[in-house]
Amino acid sequence: MHWFNKMIVGMMPAFPKSFIWMFSRRYIAGKRLEDAVRKTKQLNATGSLATIDVLGEDITDLSEAAAAREEGLLVLEAIRSEALEANLSVKLTQLGLRLDKEACFQNVRTLAKKAAENNCFLRIDMEDSTCTDETLDLYRRIRREFPRSGTVIQAYLKRSEADVRRLIDDQIAHLRICKGIYDERPEIAYKEREEIRDEYKKLVGMMFDSGSYAGIATHDRKLVDWAVQTVRERNIPRENYEFQMLLGVTEKVRKALVRDGHRLRVYVPFGERWYGYCMRRMKENPRVAGLIIKNLFIRD
Ligand code: FDA
Repeated sequence: MHWFNKMIVGMMPAFPKSFIWMFSRRYIAGKRLEDAVRKTKQLNATGSLATIDVLGEDITDLSEAAAAREEGLLVLEAIRSEALEANLSVKLTQLGLRLDKEACFQNVRTLAKKAAENNCFLRIDMEDSTCTDETLDLYRRIRREFPRSGTVIQAYLKRSEADVRRLIDDQIAHLRICKGIYDERPEIAYKEREEIRDEYKKLVGMMFDSGSYAGIATHDRKLVDWAVQTVRERNIPRENYEFQMLLGVTEKVRKALVRDGHRLRVYVPFGERWYGYCMRRMKENPRVAGLIIKNLFIRD
């Protein structure tokens, strides 16, 4: 199916924006903050938590980083004033990582400070492997000052077991574990589906062993079933983990997890830059385009 996915991605720019919006809107709360607030309220009403993400990444000017920081502050303010059961997820390249590391740190620090004042949690997303070291370094600095913060580890990276071990040893492992979305080189990343699943289980197992808080971010039915069974067999307290899923994906599984008493957080992206975000995601990983087309016809 690789050629099919690539073909779809190649054709995308030829379609009108309104057409792309038609099938992207399921995955995006909307263009404005009030859309994200409305979606989060709907999710909260059905027993789900949310993490809100202002769309955008890789900027070319520090003024854009400052604008992204201000948007993040508005989200934190909305979470407080609307009493949302939600936290904020941020991407470091959007906050200036590739332009000026110290400016990026200060932007994240401003957000982490505001989050702490509002008793809210801040999650630092993980981007491609050129950012891994810098993201973990920055997270360590932030975490020293703000305990209500966490980051993300990608199971497909061969380095991840060592990274999780170090974070656990340093008692700062508040981690979302995901498979990883970027197309990485085989020298540094596992490529086989089963291999990635095995790594995923190993990392979540390490989190459980150490009593660290694990965000189990996957829609893979086999991994979800494995995690549910492991939590039950090992008596992992509800306060030590949550499932996390993307808006618009595997809604039935989400509902079943909530019904069975698990904490479930939905990733709620919003913003004006939805088009660039969608196109980039699909170019980086044509498989996403295939999944979106598949999900137009099959509701799981
Ligand atoms: P898998 O890819 O096997 O998908 C299982 C099924 O889920 C598919 O068959 C399909 O039905 C559905 N599905 C999965 N992804 C879909 C999509 N995008 N659109 C439509 N359907 C989809 N990655 C990263 O590198 N850095 C990060 O910070 C994050 N953050 C993050 C947060 C949250 C809450 C989630 C759920 C995921 C991420 N990811 C991420 C993405 C993650 O790394 C991974 O690429 C996707 O979750 C897909 O992997 P699955 O484990 O779901 O399995």
